[in-house]
Amino acid sequence: MCGIVGYVGQKQAKDVVIEGLRLLEYRGYDSAGIALVHDNALATDKKAGKLANLEKAIAEAPLPSSTTGIGHTRWATHGAPNDVNAHPHAGPQRRVAVVHNGILENFARLRDELERAGHDLLSETDTEVAAHLLENEVRAGADLTTAMQNVCRRLEGAFTLVAVDAEDPSRVVAARRNSPLVVGLGDGENFIGSDVAAFIEHTREALELGQDQVVTITREGVEVTSFDGSPAEGRQYHVDWDLAAAEKDGYDWFMRKEIFEQPRAIADALLGRHDEAGLLQLDEVRISDDELRDIDKIVIIACGTSNYAAMVAKYAIEHWTRIPCEIELSHEFRYRDPILTRNTLVVAISQSGETADTLMAIRHAVKQKAKVLAICNTNGSTIPRESDAVIYTHAGPEIGVASTKGFLTQLIACYLLGLYLAQVRGTKFGDEIAAVVRELAQMEDRVQQVLDDAARTYALAERFRDAKSVLFLGRHAGFPVALEGALKLKELAYIHAEGFAAGELKHGPIALIEPGLPVFCVVPPRGRDQLHDKMISAIQEIRARGALTIVLAEGDDTEVTPYADVLIPLPTVPTLLQPLVATVPLQLFACELATLMGHDVDQPRNLAKSVTVE
Ligand code: M6R
Repeated sequence: MCGIVGYVGQKQAKDVVIEGLRLLEYRGYDSAGIALVHDNALATDKKAGKLANLEKAIAEAPLPSSTTGIGHTRWATHGAPNDVNAHPHAGPQRRVAVVHNGILENFARLRDELERAGHDLLSETDTEVAAHLLENEVRAGADLTTAMQNVCRRLEGAFTLVAVDAEDPSRVVAARRNSPLVVGLGDGENFIGSDVAAFIEHTREALELGQDQVVTITREGVEVTSFDGSPAEGRQYHVDWDLAAAEKDGYDWFMRKEIFEQPRAIADALLGRHDEAGLLQLDEVRISDDELRDIDKIVIIACGTSNYAAMVAKYAIEHWTRIPCEIELSHEFRYRDPILTRNTLVVAISQSGETADTLMAIRHAVKQKAKVLAICNTNGSTIPRESDAVIYTHAGPEIGVASTKGFLTQLIACYLLGLYLAQVRGTKFGDEIAAVVRELAQMEDRVQQVLDDAARTYALAERFRDAKSVLFLGRHAGFPVALEGALKLKELAYIHAEGFAAGELKHGPIALIEPGLPVFCVVPPRGRDQLHDKMISAIQEIRARGALTIVLAEGDDTEVTPYADVLIPLPTVPTLLQPLVATVPLQLFACELATLMGHDVDQPRNLAKSVTVE
């Protein structure tokens, strides 16, 4: 949710921190703040609203020179997004400053304890409690590392904390429990970030931390311990993308850039997935073939857009493998007491790899001895680390809050998983698998074809810029596409949008249809004749009631043309792969409509990219 940066080195910490926050702002943008250590004192500034407000304040009242600092960009949990609640928070004597991501669940009790001891807390946040506790420790003689270990042992909940001590400019200390934190390894300088974007401009060498660890960075090095002070180790890795990937590259929005990156992202997601004999290989899947042959049930867990990828995956995996496949929203999963055994494969789909709901769900699955496989885009993130196996989607950094290339590459990973299981279990012949893989290899060009026609969708956005409500209909693999189209519109354009399975219309939702209501209809390829024909019937039913139909169908599908007020032609692809092409116009539509409405497409209101609280 929040973005966190820490720096100690030789550069101006203000510049490193602000630039890091700029690259992390997609994580939360309710307020931003910075604390620098200068001359045995803290120099801080913080402002409600986007980072630009903080930058303006600093330009008007410059901060002193410093080479040690921390910063924060916030997605509010405790307390309104105002200047007072913005991070950093300082201790009572303004010796320690802290930034925090997560929720301290026992903060009320700790706050009460502090207030009874005479502490005056200024904000409504849980974070300020940590600042006061840390300052108590350092004033009692502990160094900041020991202070952090002592305080963390008292905290409950999920948190990343990063702190500086005005009397010790040599170090920045951070800690994590159930919340993201990575270290950037530089030369004569070191960094802390919620993710690698925070320091990618300076170094591509990173260290991932384990659960319940404290890390101290100085100019000279990095030291990791457990909360009890015992030495611990992180895992070092090289980041395979650079600053250019985290920049907009001439586009108005990261989202638009990421939509147009999808052909390349699909190609990257497919890269190196088969051996010389043409057999699929998923190197990162560390579950043996024998174990995969014993799987008798698959449960896919995910949230939001990733959940729609899961819905598509069910159609493909059940069809190719004949293994029963359930889908569950991560936040509902463990509360229904799911039946899991050693032969259950739980697949967790998460672009960020940090979604708290999904993380908690896989922990539940691990406890029940199920095997867990993550489909994830973020190397070094927690969900793949805590899973038995992972398929990385290789989409590159996704900065726009609305998931786009993350979704399409999740679909690719799901297809690969389904085909791999079919290969291992022999439910499909090799030539059948090879045929689907060949189709997948063509999807890069098919998606490009849809993108080349973007102007058609943009014109549609112009036409419907005053729409108050938009519906989306689909069947089979087109149903999750309809849900995804509606989600994109809700999160970006803030208008009422709903996706329905077309067959469900007559059971109630058809009452919503009124003259002029725009309805996007995802028509299955003609290869699935029954599905196709039933979808056409649904389109006729809504059109008869005055809906304005925007039909996404194969370009040469003449059967549907008479019922389409607007036709968005799609390339001819197999039904199971159609979501890869059908989703793209809906992404373009939402992006363009939100732009025309004057909304911030990359940072929609109330949202954050990575939802690290439950
Ligand atoms: O990082 P994750 O894939 O776990 O995130 C899940 C959802 O929060 C995410 O897909 C969200 O729905 C996006 N904003 C959708 O565009």
